[in-house]
This record gives sequence, structure tokens and C-alpha cells, in this order.
Amino acid sequence: MIPINNQSVTATLPGKLMLMGEHAAVYGFPCLAAAVDKKLTVKLNKRTDGNIIIRSDYFKKTLQSDWQKITGKIEPAGQYLTAALRTVSALISDKTGMDMEIKSDFSGRYGLGSSAAVTAGAIAGIAALFGLNLSKEELFKLTYRSILTVAEDASGYDAAAVVFGGVIYYKKGDSKPEKIDAYPNLLVCYSGSKADTVEMVRMVAGKMNSHRKAVLKIFEATADLVEQARQSLISQQYDIFGKLMNFSQDYLEDLGVVTSKLNELILKARKAGALGAKISGAGGGDCLIALVDDSNSPKVAQALIEAGGEMVDTAITSKEVSIS
Ligand code: PMV
Repeated sequence: MIPINNQSVTATLPGKLMLMGEHAAVYGFPCLAAAVDKKLTVKLNKRTDGNIIIRSDYFKKTLQSDWQKITGKIEPAGQYLTAALRTVSALISDKTGMDMEIKSDFSGRYGLGSSAAVTAGAIAGIAALFGLNLSKEELFKLTYRSILTVAEDASGYDAAAVVFGGVIYYKKGDSKPEKIDAYPNLLVCYSGSKADTVEMVRMVAGKMNSHRKAVLKIFEATADLVEQARQSLISQQYDIFGKLMNFSQDYLEDLGVVTSKLNELILKARKAGALGAKISGAGGGDCLIALVDDSNSPKVAQALIEAGGEMVDTAITSKEVSIS
């Protein structure tokens, strides 16, 4: 990416969706994910007084800090952001203060990647503001490292999706994901309750401790589905991708991460003609995705709304992080 070193810089990031392989991804199995056309921007202006003033859609109040305080304790309001500031501060020698304004056209409650987007946006934006040239691979590495200080088991798929854009095939530990040129037509529906990813990951870890063999079997089978799904996306055979989504959902149910509301919505979507439907992400709430085509999309959306789901207006995008 281009170093800017201006008085003012804006980093723009997409949102993300998990397509397949959630939870297994935490244990190093592959997953498929995508960037979505929701937008988060981090706008930065240099200040001369050393202060860091942060205004964000996600906080109720304006936060005031400086580089010393930021490198100290992580504040609970905005853990991901303060972790990002700590990560990037170590790379910049000549730092003045700055105004930071974070704006987003998606709510943090949908689980569409606001944490990863804020983290990558702050790191990319600050690096550019202070003239540091980061490649996308470097930005991804720093973003993931920063996320790990808040969520120690995270696979990093969300950071990979918002930094690289498009549909990605990714494994924890990869320095960059494989990009797949596919645009499955997905409906995204919020189930009405917020998921706690860290809690869900912990719950699965408990099962891994008590029933290691059974959980590993689920993950190995999921990994096999992910490989087939990768092929189906490469060859644009979306009907096959839909069937694989349904299989993958069965394994997520076995894992015990699907709420009864998510399950109800998924069954309604399939009944209304969706080619496939499953949760997207940790489960325990948040969103489901339903694969549709132009002919059945309105009917599936209608069925989801009638069953109490909230449609989220978004689609897969090739857009990746950008700096202006
Ligand atoms: O709920 P989300 O969208 O943050 O997705 C979590 C996916 C997990 O595999 C459960 C965790 C991870 O870091 O991959």
C-alpha cells in the first residue's frame, strides 16, 4: 500500500462473513470466508499537542488519550482499538498526536467484522499517516497479532477477509489467504441476539477437552467439506456449494453451537427454496447465511422476515482495505 504521510488519511475497510469452517478454523483447519460491502472508515488528522482524540460510532463518548497511556493498560471500551494503537505505536518513532474518527455503516451487533475492521483500519491508517509503508501481508500480520492480544484463540480469518477482500480460503498461520474469484449470492439474516464469540470458542474448547476424538472427527469432516466447497466455488457450481453448506451446518449442530432461533430460520430458508443455509461465525446468535439465486431470493427473504429474522442488506465484495 502507498505510504501517505499527510496531515490527513482515511483507511476504508469492508466487513466480513464466515462461509464455512468456523470453530474448526481455531484448531488450524481451513475455512472459507468473504469480505462484504459494508464499510468502516478510520479518518485521521495529525495534531501537534500529542493528544489522541477518538470519536467513534461504537463508543458513547469521545475518548482522550496519548501514546503513553495507550501503550499502558488496554481500556475496556474499545479493546480492539487500543490493542491496535499499542501494536502500531511500537513501529512509529516520530509520533505527534492525532484526531481519529471511526464511522461505520454496519452495526457491531451483527458480527460482520467490526472488530477486525477497526483493528486493521487503525493500523493501516496510522502507519500511512506517519509515512510507514505496509504491504497487505504486513498489515494482516500486525492486525492478527493485535487481535490475538484480545482474543487469544482467534484464527485470524476476519483480519484476512477485511485486509485482502473477496472470497478467501484461509488456514490459521497462513501469511496470506488464497483468493477465490467467486460471488455466491447470499442472503444475510440477523437472528436477533448477539453472539459472544470468545464464550462460544471456550465452550467448544471444553468439548475438545472432554470429547477430543468426537470433536476432531467433526473438524476433519468439516475440513473435507471446506475443500469440496473451495472447488465448487472455483468452478462456480453454486448448487453444490449450497449442499455443502447444509452438510456443514449439520456438523455445527453436532458441535452444539446453533441456537433454536438460528435453526428455525435456517429451516425456513431452506423450505422457501434456498440452495443452502447455515450459521455464519461462532453461533450462539448473530447471523445466518442463505444461498439463493435471483428466482428464489425474494421468497427466501420473505420467509426469514416472517419467522422473525432481520435481513442485513449486504453482499460479497472484492473490495479490500484501501487508504486515501
Ligand atoms: O463469530 P465470528 O464471526 O467472530 O466468527 C468466529 C469464528 C470462529 O471460528 C468460531 C473463531 C475464529 O477465530 O475463527
